[in-house]
Amino acid sequence: MLTLQIIIGSVRQGRGGASVAEWFTDIAAKDARFQTEVVDLAALNLPIMDEPNHPRLQQYTHEHTKRFSEIIARGDAYVFVTTEYNYAIPGALKNALDYLGPEWAGKPMCAVAYGGISGAARAVEDLRRVAVALKMIPLVQGVVCPLYAQQRDDEGRFHGNPTQIEAAHDMLNTLADFGAVLKARRLAAL
Ligand SMILES: Cc1cc2nc3c(=O)[nH]c(=O)nc-3n(C[C@H](O)[C@H](O)[C@H](O)COP(=O)(O)O)c2cc1C
Repeated sequence: MLTLQIIIGSVRQGRGGASVAEWFTDIAAKDARFQTEVVDLAALNLPIMDEPNHPRLQQYTHEHTKRFSEIIARGDAYVFVTTEYNYAIPGALKNALDYLGPEWAGKPMCAVAYGGISGAARAVEDLRRVAVALKMIPLVQGVVCPLYAQQRDDEGRFHGNPTQIEAAHDMLNTLADFGAVLKARRLAAL
């Protein structure tokens, strides 16, 4: 079984990201190919990257980095639930990505993107560029939620439409394929 980590990239009070992540996690948790784990950057509360050494060396000096490294290392595939802040990914997400190196490498990633009229499309491109630098394998499949606030109910719960639900399954199928191949490759290299 593959460990699928669902990473919530916004951390501000009153964020909508948690509602979108909850919707997607419900779908992913029913997929027997994955064990899902939500990685909530708000709960981890990482400071601005404060390690003295380059992450590629994995010579971490802080407990928060060691803990984050352990979490991300056990992921076999990543889904980033991201919005767009000023045409880019939220700073907290970029900060979290910068903290680590080899933990991310050789694993497939996709995005569930939500935002205004653009559906955070520019942030997804931004995220893919960073993912490539970290040697992740970005996949084109993904879920786009433009004007996502209109899909939230009175309690703030997000409800995906049929197109988004289909896109979520399509994305999970591709992540399962690539996740298995890349995991076998990583294990063979040990
Ligand atoms: C600082 C900031 C910048 C934003 N910039 C964009 C943007 O560039 N494009 C966009 O579609 N929405 C933008 N928005 C609106 C967000 O899509 C919307 O507020 C969304 O709820 C943010 O996700 P969050 O609630 O999880 O933080 C911005 C919001 C904030 C707070």
